[in-house]
Amino acid sequence: MTEKLQIVERTLEQLGATTPERVAELFTEVRAVFDRSMGAATDEASWKQWRDGWLGRTAGALSLITSQWLKSAGPALKPSVGRGLNELRGHIERAIEERRSAIEAQAAERAAAAERIDLTLPGIERVIGTRHLVQQTLEEIQDIFLRLGYAIAEGPEIETAYYNFEALNIPEFHPAREMWDTFYVGGPTATPGKLVLRTHTSPMQIRIMERQPPPVRVIVPGKVYRRDNPDASHLFMFHQIEGLAVDRDLTFADFKGTIEFFVREFLGPKARTRLRPSYFPFTEPSAEVDATCVVCAGRGCRTCKQTGWFEIMGAGMVDPSVYGFVHYDAKKVSGFAFGMGVDRLAILKHGIDDIQVLVQNDARFLRQFP
Ligand code: PHE
Repeated sequence: MTEKLQIVERTLEQLGATTPERVAELFTEVRAVFDRSMGAATDEASWKQWRDGWLGRTAGALSLITSQWLKSAGPALKPSVGRGLNELRGHIERAIEERRSAIEAQAAERAAAAERIDLTLPGIERVIGTRHLVQQTLEEIQDIFLRLGYAIAEGPEIETAYYNFEALNIPEFHPAREMWDTFYVGGPTATPGKLVLRTHTSPMQIRIMERQPPPVRVIVPGKVYRRDNPDASHLFMFHQIEGLAVDRDLTFADFKGTIEFFVREFLGPKARTRLRPSYFPFTEPSAEVDATCVVCAGRGCRTCKQTGWFEIMGAGMVDPSVYGFVHYDAKKVSGFAFGMGVDRLAILKHGIDDIQVLVQNDARFLRQFP
């Protein structure tokens, strides 16, 4: 403010202004000083200081000039001083107001810029896991049976020998136990035969019939364990889905229709089904179910060992002696059961030639099935 102080604090005599022209020149000068001072107002605080410097009631330049010049003007100069003051005030007020909105606009722009999101920056990629191929296959199979009105149940993986064998019509020391290479829980020192890692999901047939009266339509997905050496088609832990349907008058035709429906839904409308006579202690008659090998469409390849068929499950009509273990009346009910290997079905469907890839946890393999 030093620049203008000198001029506004003096009287007209001191400034040697004796003519209206000279007065007008002085106003032009003050105006120029004001215009030059404008640059000092860069933000709200400096703007306020600038404004008060010019418009402040007592010490503001305009007040000073008004009192000094107006008072000291003789009648000849009063009109030009009055006009000059009016014009100057108008100019100063307009300029100060303009400066205020410019500063506000600038501040708003800066705030917006600080908040602006840069859409061109690369995002943070979060790796989302996928369901394992076996889980996907399990769910796919479950969906097919859910549509047929089946319920889903799950059971323990550590099972008593009673449920895993005896109640399924496989007595202790019966040679049929050798159909399953069993892990006995507790190792060689454990009470022989008390607890096992279930070798199949069939024990759930018994547990389900124990706890509910017929009719039964249920599937049981889950892990099972066998003492097999790992190779291209064997895992010592794998997955089965057990199926059990018990009602009045269920026949082998119901069984066959159900399985054929399942195979077509799962493998496609062209897939065919074949039943081969077989033996299980808890079904009679028993069958192995084969489906068309989807890898070679039945022409014969490595996966199906050149037969064109691929075994997908063991099955049969529930043996009447099993009903005796669960107090169902074998004269009133009949039914069928099946147990399929989910891991086998997964590799069959996707033409995978080594079952071991399912458990090697190689993300490059697993990512192929998103
Ligand atoms: N539990 C049998 C197995 O794992 C399969 C099966 C289930 C057979 C149901 C008949 C009925 O070998």
